[in-house]
Amino acid sequence: MADPAAGVAEVRDALERVGYLAGESTALVSFIAERLGKPVLVEGPAGVGKTELAKALSRATGRRLIRLQCYEGLDEAKALYEWNYRKQLLRIQTEGEDAGWRDVHDDIFGEEFLLTRPLLQAIASEEPVVLLIDEIDKTDQEFEAMLLEVLSDFQISIPELGVVEAKSRPLVLLTSNNSRELTEALKRRCLYLWLDYPDVERELEIVRLHAPELNEQVARKLVEVIHMVRNLDLKKPPSIAESIDWARALLLLGAEEIDETVLKRTMSIIVKHRTDLDVVAERVGVKLQDGLIGRQQAG
Ligand SMILES: Nc1ncnc2c1ncn2[C@@H]1O[C@H](COP(=O)(O)OP(=O)(O)OP(=O)(O)O)[C@@H](O)[C@H]1O
Ligand SMILES: [Mg+2]
Repeated sequence: MADPAAGVAEVRDALERVGYLAGESTALVSFIAERLGKPVLVEGPAGVGKTELAKALSRATGRRLIRLQCYEGLDEAKALYEWNYRKQLLRIQTEGEDAGWRDVHDDIFGEEFLLTRPLLQAIASEEPVVLLIDEIDKTDQEFEAMLLEVLSDFQISIPELGVVEAKSRPLVLLTSNNSRELTEALKRRCLYLWLDYPDVERELEIVRLHAPELNEQVARKLVEVIHMVRNLDLKKPPSIAESIDWARALLLLGAEEIDETVLKRTMSIIVKHRTDLDVVAERVGVKLQDGLIGRQQAG
């Protein structure tokens, strides 16, 4: 058997080549998921790269990405399949008077009359795909229960048609912001990956990847300020997405330094609550003014 450590490193490198900087556990879990054909549940705060991981895996493996965006009230008709009633009705009308019910039934419950939705598309696909079930915590428990058949047996039962089995196993990623606790039954079927805010060095790499023209010193200071802001117990701490946006905005404005004035002008890019803005202006602004960030680790 090939060296597993080399396999993990290979996954990390492949992700890096498509613009995703994976940490140790991300690379490891992705590697195991692909080898064992197990779904991965990715949890963590907003904007830490959960959705992007699925997209990156799709790019890295050359598999098509099929995405199911979850929301409250999402049902089987939008996630699995739906019968195309209008087409069925048309067929019934054209069958003529003397066709028996059996014939009609056999006719109108064929694949031709099926509208496939993301889960069925992923299962029925001839080519292996990456299936992203994004923000699963937005759905209700009944929906989760429905998912179990897909996640453990990689098949979907359609009463009128039979069981559709996966021709090739999809690589499945489920993401959650933890807005509600998911069921044990679901968790048992998945590998688990907790994504957190990265450390300064990794976040600096990510920012530089997304905004390569930004001056190295400015980028480092930006990440240090972001980390300091995250420690402030805000309503909504800034995520990697905000770091990237801030870097791009600073580039656009031609900022060559992050001082108190620049922070005040641009901080609404990283904090998005009225009260958080006040806290940041007060606590971080002062440190910038005194030159306390950049020379030492912000605390
Ligand atoms: N490890 C990483 N390497 C490269 N880019 C990253 C990484 N992590 C996050 N990003 C970037 O950060 C941004 C936010 O990522 P993403 O949308 O995947 O977050 P999320 O965890 O799905 O957030 P939400 O919970 O709000 O949906 C994206 O632009 C993504 O490219
Ligand atoms: Mg997301």
